[in-house]
Amino acid sequence: MTSQKKKGRVFSGARPTGRQHLGNYLGAIKNYVALQDEYEECIYCIVDIHALTTVDTTKELKNNTYEMALDWLAAGLRPDDSIIFVQSHVPEVAELHTFLSMVTPLGKLTDLPTFKEKIRYQPQNINYGLVGYPVLMAADIALYKAIVVPVGVDQAPHIEFTREVVRSFNYHYNTNVLIEPQMKATKVPKVLGIDGENKMSKSLGNHIELASSPQETQQRVMQMVTDPQRARRADPGNPDVCNVFTMHRIFSSEEEVETINVECRKAGIGCVDCKKMFAKNLNEHLAPFRARRAKLAEKPDDVWGVLDDGGKRARAIAGQTIAEVKEAIGLP
Ligand code: AMP
Ligand code: TRP
Repeated sequence: MTSQKKKGRVFSGARPTGRQHLGNYLGAIKNYVALQDEYEECIYCIVDIHALTTVDTTKELKNNTYEMALDWLAAGLRPDDSIIFVQSHVPEVAELHTFLSMVTPLGKLTDLPTFKEKIRYQPQNINYGLVGYPVLMAADIALYKAIVVPVGVDQAPHIEFTREVVRSFNYHYNTNVLIEPQMKATKVPKVLGIDGENKMSKSLGNHIELASSPQETQQRVMQMVTDPQRARRADPGNPDVCNVFTMHRIFSSEEEVETINVECRKAGIGCVDCKKMFAKNLNEHLAPFRARRAKLAEKPDDVWGVLDDGGKRARAIAGQTIAEVKEAIGLP
């Protein structure tokens, strides 16, 4: 098995947002899990330092980190195959961030669409770390010499930036110690929230948590916005514009999808029944995940143990890269 895997490292990170939702699952986690079978080494990082650029309070940071790790493990990340760790446990990343900042033109950072969007959200807190966010992300990736980075399309400017800063560093110091990574767009780049309009996100409150109970899940699903043109039960609907139908395509059988596709268009099935079907299938799909999660949650120390061990393994790689980087720069 191992010998058939591709060589090289995969790296990805996500901010500690606590319990994960369907958008995180379909857009990122499923892909992380699948890549474990494709590549020899996968490294997944909970980027708590990045989170500091936007949070008002760090009260929830520890718990959010723990809940997220639980979700990742329950979804199928395997600590034997992957390094799973917390960014702040590997201080070398801050070192590389500083070195990379010396070959980063400031204008490049302030021109990034991701930066412009962030300062629209928090005009009262345009901190230095926020400007340097992509440099820290480039340091994350370069520190582990990752060749593949699975992320949502919203991260494309950051990956392009990473490639540029790696090229600048190597050129500036006449070396090839750092590696230019490739982005791997996740399979489902944008999952819509229950409002049927915006990207599913915790901050918008339009999310469905993976770890919810079946009853809570059903309640959330029943709130999903369907085809807005279908006001009454007797009106025919259009599955092509319905987010519930999009979800059926992911979680329901081919027969069910086909039945809904036909029946919705002639008002043969109503939105309430259609949603009940989806809730049932989603709950069935998530049942093994929830069982694994409950089991893992019985031993929180083991979950922290996975992160501690991951941190140690990550640090060993990071230390080596930093030594090479310092040598390349010519630091005494
Ligand atoms: P975030 O929680 O925004 O830091 O995102 C963590 C990971 O989940 C990133 O790789 C995102 O691209 C992905 N992600 C978050 N929300 C969605 C969504 N609604 N649809 C698809 N992917 C998402
Ligand atoms: N910026 C990413 C996001 O908002 C999170 C992130 C930080 C990341 N460092 C990374 C993703 C390194 C991939 C690789 O989702």
